[in-house]
Amino acid sequence: MRETAKAADLLDWYDVHARDMPWRVGPARRAAGERPDPYRIWLSEVMLQQTTVAAVTQYFNRFTARWPTVADLAAAEDGEVMGEWAGLGYYARARNLLKCARAVVAEHGGRFPSDHATLLTLPGIGPYTAAAIAAIAFDAPETVVDGNVERVMARLHDIHTPLPAAKPALTAASAALTPAARPGDYAQAVMDLGATICTPRSPACGICPWRAPCAARAEGTAPELPKKSPK
Ligand code: ADE
Repeated sequence: MRETAKAADLLDWYDVHARDMPWRVGPARRAAGERPDPYRIWLSEVMLQQTTVAAVTQYFNRFTARWPTVADLAAAEDGEVMGEWAGLGYYARARNLLKCARAVVAEHGGRFPSDHATLLTLPGIGPYTAAAIAAIAFDAPETVVDGNVERVMARLHDIHTPLPAAKPALTAASAALTPAARPGDYAQAVMDLGATICTPRSPACGICPWRAPCAARAEGTAPELPKKSPK
């Protein structure tokens, strides 16, 4: 099966099974022309850096109710933001969040930059977060690789090289699958596949949109992948 056909099958699955998250724009709103809000994508990605989707959702809803735009957040007092962040942990993220909001207002006229290189210059935005914002908010052809994506790629191609040595091959595998038309949805679809079907211990291969092309399913090796180097 060609990479374009695999990507198309995954996007068809995502259009039906995407997890509902408050920063996502579902198929109906998308069909009506709505695009994801870069401020909301950035905020969600920073919150998700070390925290689960379930824990992030209520914090995200409170933040965006209180500060609906990046300019609102940039104008907040430090103590107010730290107070809303309380409980999420990794407080350097909250300090960088405010620095980043103020930089977007001061240096970019209140609009998030759309390209990876410029995003990387902002406080608290590393290579992963820059790729996620560029792909999800701006449909830039960036490859977004987290733990879910690594597991899915290792299984799809039955890659037994342990992590972290396998990282370049797994990134290349996902880059080769990234479609020109919907790179942001593709990235989120692989994450959702890894979170809901291609799970670490007992993957639900029978209902996976990639059951036909999956090499690890054919070999019976899915539950043992990805391999990890002993620490
Ligand atoms: N983890 C980080 N970003 C995510 C996203 N956009 N969707 C699902 N899980 C994520």
